[in-house]
Formats: sequence, structure tokens, C-alpha cells
Amino acid sequence: MRILSGIKPTGVPHIGNYFGMMRPAIEWQERGEAFYFIADYHALTTLHDPALLRQYSRGVALDFLACGLDPEKATLFRQSDVQGIGQLTWILSTLTPMPMLENAHAYKAAVDRGGEATVNLGLFAYPVLMAIDILIYQSNIVPVGRDQKQHVEMTRDLALKFNRTFGETFTIPEPSILPGVETIRGLDGQKMSKSYGNTIELFSEEKALRKKVMSIVTDSSPVEAPKDPSNSAIVDLYRLFASDSDVRDMESRFRAGGTGYGDFKKQLFEAIWVYFAPMRSRRKELESDSAYVDRVLAAGAERANALAGETVAKVRRATGLD
Ligand code: TRP
Repeated sequence: MRILSGIKPTGVPHIGNYFGMMRPAIEWQERGEAFYFIADYHALTTLHDPALLRQYSRGVALDFLACGLDPEKATLFRQSDVQGIGQLTWILSTLTPMPMLENAHAYKAAVDRGGEATVNLGLFAYPVLMAIDILIYQSNIVPVGRDQKQHVEMTRDLALKFNRTFGETFTIPEPSILPGVETIRGLDGQKMSKSYGNTIELFSEEKALRKKVMSIVTDSSPVEAPKDPSNSAIVDLYRLFASDSDVRDMESRFRAGGTGYGDFKKQLFEAIWVYFAPMRSRRKELESDSAYVDRVLAAGAERANALAGETVAKVRRATGLD
């Protein structure tokens, strides 16, 4: 079973990304042949700053490795290191109906945000590139957040259309929908999302992390007052990092009164800080060993290219471009 997913290097990861995508992806590496790539071509649809693109791309590799991606088990590589992605994207685009792309949520949201003229062709064609990312490795399972479900459905439709037109060429992939950020609350209690500016980053410095956690929005109950743990972003976040008994303990101290929100936030901060401590120190080690990260990405690119090359040859034969 081949598992494939990609992550766009457009920023630094937050807790929602970690629990929604990174941790489950890392768990999948035990269950099959996992391929994870840094979607730098996709990032270019919105990011036109070469230094920043390099920094974020490197960052994704460091984050994944620090969080437990094992390069012996999973293949980690950069999208732009794989030959044939552009070629197959072009070929598949000739079978892609315009209305399919016009219906894509991501495209419609971009038009709503900035108007049609702000949307470039790359952003419009994003689902075709994403389909090729998946199909070029003949992937079976694609773990993604709910926001990407439509893109995987388009991938399936396009693969079926290609197979009907040119003969059996692509494996039809299945999405595996991950719990995702909609279940993780940010500083203001809404779902955690970069676009809401309410995120808590994995690898910020101690002071910055503490400041963020202390800024979680609460009601204005005084210290003595009993508090409701069932609708608290503090408790919900704490649940991600603490044992069941520690969570029960916090819940009963909420109900008892006599403890202010500030103290609960300090406890949450400690839990987050401790949880990511081993990953933070692993990340520091990796930052100073750039040759190692280069080797991992080069080995990943080699494995990815070997697989992709077979599909490129198949597609060229099937379409008459051989
Ligand atoms: N579009 C995905 C995102 O924004 C990233 C991505 C690109 C991807 N290609 C992919 C995910 C292929 C899964 C499979 O999160």
C-alpha cells in the first residue's frame, strides 16, 4: 500500500497542523510505503520570495524529521526535484474540464478574497498539479485534511477519465480524511487557522510561546468563581497534551473555583513546552547538520524519481508521445 501526502511550504507549522496532518502522516509510515513531499511548486502560486521559499521548504523538512518522520521508513522529498511533474500536469490539463476547476472551493475562495484578476493560472490549475502529485506515484491512500477532500475527488475523476480515454494507466487513489484543524481551537476559541491569526506554533521560543498561551481569550470570571470546563479552549487544548487524569484534575479545579484562568494557562503552557521538548532539541540538532537533511532529501528524490519515471513512460506510451 502506497501512502502519499504533501505539505505546502508557506509558513511555520502550528498545533493544528501538527495534530491534523503531521502526526497522523508520521503514524502512517508504520503501515505502508509512505511518500511525503514539500509542495514547493504549489507554494509558488502565492509566494514569490525566493529567500522565504527556501527557508520554508527547508523548515518543512526539519519539522517533519524533528517530529518523528523516519527516512528509513518514509520517503521525504521536494516536489520540484521530481522530473515529469510539469509534463504530466500539462497532459492531464488537456482532459480537465474548465467547469471542474471553476468549482474548486480553493479557487472560489481566492476569487472571493481578491477578485478574479488576482487569481493566477497556477492557482486556477492547482487541482491538476495536485492530481499529478498523487497519480505519478500510483498512490493508494492520500491522508489529507477535510479542506483537501474535493481535490482528491477531482484527482479520482481525472484519473478515471484518463484511463477511459487512453487505457488503464493510473491507480485510483482513496482519500483518508484526517481529524484536522476544525477540531482544534485557537487562541480566540474558533478553529485554529493561520488566516484567523489565532495559532500556537510548535517551535517558537519559550517567551513567545508563553505569551501566546497567556493570550487565550476567556470570560471575565473572578478567581473565586467556579468555571465551566466544558466550553473552554484552555481545557480543550490541554486535552491534546496531558494524560486523562491530569485533564480530569484540571476540570475539577475549574468547577471548584478558587483558581484563576492565568494559572490554568500556565499549566497549559508547561504541558505544551514539555510535549514538544524532545522535538525541539531534535530540530536544533538537525538545523546544525544540514548535510544530513540534504542527504535525506536527495535519497528521497531518487526514490520518488524512480517511481515517477515509470509512470511518465507509461503516460507517454498511452498518449502517443513516445
Ligand atoms: N494542497 C495541499 C494543501 O494545501 C498540499 C498538497 C499538494 C497535497 N499536493 C498534494 C496534499 C498531494 C496531498 C496530496 O495542503
